[in-house]
Amino acid sequence: MKNHIRHLVQHALNQLTEQGVLPKELTPNIQVENTRDKAHGDFACNIAMMLAKPAQMKPRDLAEKIIQALPQDPQISQVQIAGPGFLNFFQNSQALAERLDAALADEHLGIAKKSPAETVVIDLSSPNLAKEMHVGHLRSTIIGDAVARVLEFLGDHVIRQNHVGDWGTQFGMLLAYMQEQGADSQAELADLEEFYRAAKQRFDESPEFANRARQLVVALQAGDEDCLRLWQRFNEVSLNHCQAVYDRLDVKLSMDDVKGESFYNPDLATIVQELKDQGLLTEDAGAQCVFMDEFKNADNDPLPIIVQKADGGYLYSTTDLAAMRYRNNQLQADRVLYFVDQRQALHFQMVFSLARLAGFVRPAMQLEHMGFGTMNGADGRPFKTRDGGTVKLIDLLDEAEQRAYQLVKQKNPELNEDELQQVAHSVGIGAVKYADLSKHRSSDYSFNFEQMLSFEGNTAPYLLYAYTRVASVFRKAGLTMDAALPGSMQLEAEQELSLASSLARFAEVLQQVADKGTPHTLCTYLYDLAGQFSSFYENCPILTAEQESTQHSRLRLAALTGRTLKQGLELLGLNTLERM
Ligand code: ARG
Repeated sequence: MKNHIRHLVQHALNQLTEQGVLPKELTPNIQVENTRDKAHGDFACNIAMMLAKPAQMKPRDLAEKIIQALPQDPQISQVQIAGPGFLNFFQNSQALAERLDAALADEHLGIAKKSPAETVVIDLSSPNLAKEMHVGHLRSTIIGDAVARVLEFLGDHVIRQNHVGDWGTQFGMLLAYMQEQGADSQAELADLEEFYRAAKQRFDESPEFANRARQLVVALQAGDEDCLRLWQRFNEVSLNHCQAVYDRLDVKLSMDDVKGESFYNPDLATIVQELKDQGLLTEDAGAQCVFMDEFKNADNDPLPIIVQKADGGYLYSTTDLAAMRYRNNQLQADRVLYFVDQRQALHFQMVFSLARLAGFVRPAMQLEHMGFGTMNGADGRPFKTRDGGTVKLIDLLDEAEQRAYQLVKQKNPELNEDELQQVAHSVGIGAVKYADLSKHRSSDYSFNFEQMLSFEGNTAPYLLYAYTRVASVFRKAGLTMDAALPGSMQLEAEQELSLASSLARFAEVLQQVADKGTPHTLCTYLYDLAGQFSSFYENCPILTAEQESTQHSRLRLAALTGRTLKQGLELLGLNTLERM
């Protein structure tokens, strides 16, 4: 609708330019916003204030001219001038009702698939395999998953890439320890965290061990078969740990999505050679570096990207360059979105610039670092266990489900054990995911069980519960939300109208998530929608409405609300429940 209004306004401006009211060569950015108070219409536009100066007119006078030049449109019932010169647009409620009826009749809720579709690579999760997944990988995994789902829903071709760290120097240490432990290592690998700790201890205490570890990295990277076998076994165990977390989180990631650093090993020499051929390399203390003018440190000294160490080893940046080339050449990506900690922002700016400079990617390919802030504990300090260790993700999820179990059991003693388990899973995991997704990704956030499990406020329990309220209306009526419903929508009561305009905004919100990689906009929207439904539910009787046509209309509004909530939550990776 906002786009539609933008077009109408553009049309009016063109007319005014032709009439000489507006100077030529103006290319204003027409902004249309949702109004807060529906008494002032549904949408507002400040264009008359923006153009008053170049037009040499008072804003309200120009607004008057714009209104006269606006084409008639069935979606708009009225346009008014407000305050210093805002244009307020009132939606035609009949047209709105028809649009929502059409959305209800459509499996895809009336949201057109994008055409042409884009190929979007999503770089997400990407833990380092040396250790078990910890809380730091939670954000990348679930924010990336939500954005991937939204893009798919809108019709893009999404390719998930789990760029796991499976090739760094720490593998020498792990391999040396595996060799030392022999057959026992299999048992010890069950606890990767412990295994890593033990290997590190050996590394620190024995120079002989440390030496062996360094040699093993070189052997591994040179393709030594024994090393590769051990490495493979280690990776298998480690990736199984990750997969267990993904399954537990209901995240759409599988082993097929894993394209770790090691995958690019065969390309790394080529990358360095191509940089060299283009004259981009500088040798610095034996290391191969690229210096780009735009990157300097605080002292204004040039910052290097090191692509090969003096001992011949390659680095994180080299792998990322190879990955970009692969995503361009083989995957033919139009966009690549990196869901990686904000602290790697400089790394990405530098490798993106270098990839473009070296022609590893075509200019039209978009590279976007979707950075996110740190996850802190409830006290606002970095998340740690009581004794200062890193918190394992799996332990955190266990606790979330246990807490949810107690909570749900208290709230609804009628659920049987099976139902309780299922509800506890959806609520517990949903709460952890939603708490993260509902904050702007670039800010740090505090992980707080009490807050995320509250039934009040912008939380998973609140939204899941709101959905069950809609579901119960249909249970009582003996109807299903997805089946064809009789009648048509008529929007009369104020609460019906506001609920309807919220429902009509779903497509636009999803588009924002897709463009900016910000699932919190979808969370805010669903929270608002649930609130609108509440006041509708309290003020507009559904099953006891006097007239049958009103009952039908309200059932339709409820069905579309239920389906929008369900779809929206599913796109965020949350399972809705029929009762809880
Ligand atoms: N493994 C890295 C880490 O844990 C994240 C990798 C992100 N993706 C990438 N293409 N660099 O910090």
